[in-house]
Amino acid sequence: MNKALRETVIAGNWKMNKTRPEAALLIEELKNTAAGAGCEVVICVPYTDLETAVSLTKGTGIKVGAENCHFKDSGAYTGEISALMLAEMGVEYVVIGHSERRQYFAETDLTVNRRTKAALNAGLKPIVCVGEMLAEREDLITEDVVELQTTAALTGISAKDAENIIIAYEPVWAIGTGKTATDEQAEEVCAFIRKVVENKYGKDIAEGMTIQYGGSMNPKNAAGLLAKENIDGGLIGGASLNASDFGIIIKAASGGL
Ligand code: PGA
Repeated sequence: MNKALRETVIAGNWKMNKTRPEAALLIEELKNTAAGAGCEVVICVPYTDLETAVSLTKGTGIKVGAENCHFKDSGAYTGEISALMLAEMGVEYVVIGHSERRQYFAETDLTVNRRTKAALNAGLKPIVCVGEMLAEREDLITEDVVELQTTAALTGISAKDAENIIIAYEPVWAIGTGKTATDEQAEEVCAFIRKVVENKYGKDIAEGMTIQYGGSMNPKNAAGLLAKENIDGGLIGGASLNASDFGIIIKAASGGL
């Protein structure tokens, strides 16, 4: 295993936060922090902030992502946004299958797979989220759950396309709760996900794939998590809404601190 083979990606997931003026303010604050970062920096923002984010991040090195996309290119799907629409406006990443979408918006492994394919077809880089609920961890079925979710998300996707996928391991019990997985717990599951990817695509693809941890990552715990062999970055909710907190995590990922 060689961590250096993989790109470290620190992605903010703003969720349903920030009006356009608020987004502009935060991006202005982030510009300095992100300058000279030794890792890829992405902000995944609400649809209404995408245009602001794309225009204000030009030339800064910060990349922009959406938080979801539909699996059709166009059609009678009131309220939906397609991957093509996102790509056309300069968006480069998209979060797929976040646990909040699975829990509150009837997202299933099947729709996660379809959205992932649509994102890849449009040239976007999907950040595919997997992770167990607390009861599943307590029942000792974390690996089964994560394997099922990962395998389902990757169904019918070629090795070539898989090179553009990021997987985010986000234990549901750690999201927005302040309860982080320990460095060891996170490492163990991220390593397991890499094994699942290796079984499907072989060692080269698995060793090259960015696998993030997400769930209450913050300035205090980031360095420990990011130092782990199989953790190649983070998907960060709460702490990405504050430029100085997000900046500290970026520094930790860049080998700083
Ligand atoms: P959190 O969210 O950092 O606020 O726990 C992470 C996520 O949901 O992606």
